[in-house]
Amino acid sequence: MNKVVIITGAATGLGRSTALKLAEQGYKLSLVDFNEKDGQQTTNDVKEKGAEAIFVKADISNENDVQNYVTKTVEVFGRVDFFINNAGIMIPFRLIHEYSSDEYDRLMNVNVKGAFLGVKYVIPVMLENGGGTIVNTVSSNSFKPTAFNGIYAASKHAMAGITKSIGQDYQNKAIFAVGVAPNNMQTYISANAAVTINEDILKEYL
Ligand SMILES: NC(=O)c1ccc[n+]([C@@H]2O[C@H](COP(=O)([O-])OP(=O)(O)OC[C@H]3O[C@@H](n4cnc5c(N)ncnc54)[C@H](O)[C@@H]3O)[C@@H](O)[C@H]2O)c1
Repeated sequence: MNKVVIITGAATGLGRSTALKLAEQGYKLSLVDFNEKDGQQTTNDVKEKGAEAIFVKADISNENDVQNYVTKTVEVFGRVDFFINNAGIMIPFRLIHEYSSDEYDRLMNVNVKGAFLGVKYVIPVMLENGGGTIVNTVSSNSFKPTAFNGIYAASKHAMAGITKSIGQDYQNKAIFAVGVAPNNMQTYISANAAVTINEDILKEYL
């Protein structure tokens, strides 16, 4: 297998699991996260399974960091075949009017701008290679918002829009996009959101 995959959010959760599974299938892995300790751990674990892999520390909402992880991947592996655009965050569960604009900016900067920047810098490499596939981790919230989670739901609707636009705009250029939409997975992401949970929120959320 000579295929090269970039995975963002590879330190924990779905990104880590995907890295471990693809390592078993022989993919070359460029693993990206701002959590260096757990990102290195995933990298060591995939190497133990025999995969060629690098770890690039990056905040996906920072344009220089994004350029750097794409450049490093091409320097080491020469191409990008698959881009798993997966890193994301949640913010505390609230009613929409209770969110501060800082919380809104923080979430949108990671979940929407970070996803956009990844696509912005990966697509030119794929065009040069003759094509590629982008897998965006969207969410059940891309279709039906969970209660008290409106800004996160908006970010995942936006990411679904980016996914469909790639499908439309690059259909003659051999670049394909798919959105993977999990429902509830037991990962770290909701720990931050759960800080506001009380009986009312829990009842609506469930
Ligand atoms: N857990 C769920 O129930 C669920 C459901 C639907 C969709 N999702 C989506 O799945 C994706 C993965 O989340 P998860 O559930 O595995 O949670 P997780 O918190 O375990 O994984 C998210 C990863 O992204 C990284 N990350 C966050 N912000 C980053 C940034 N600015 N720069 C670089 N890395 C950053 C984290 O360090 C972490 O490794 C997210 O996009 C999330 O929205 C999760």
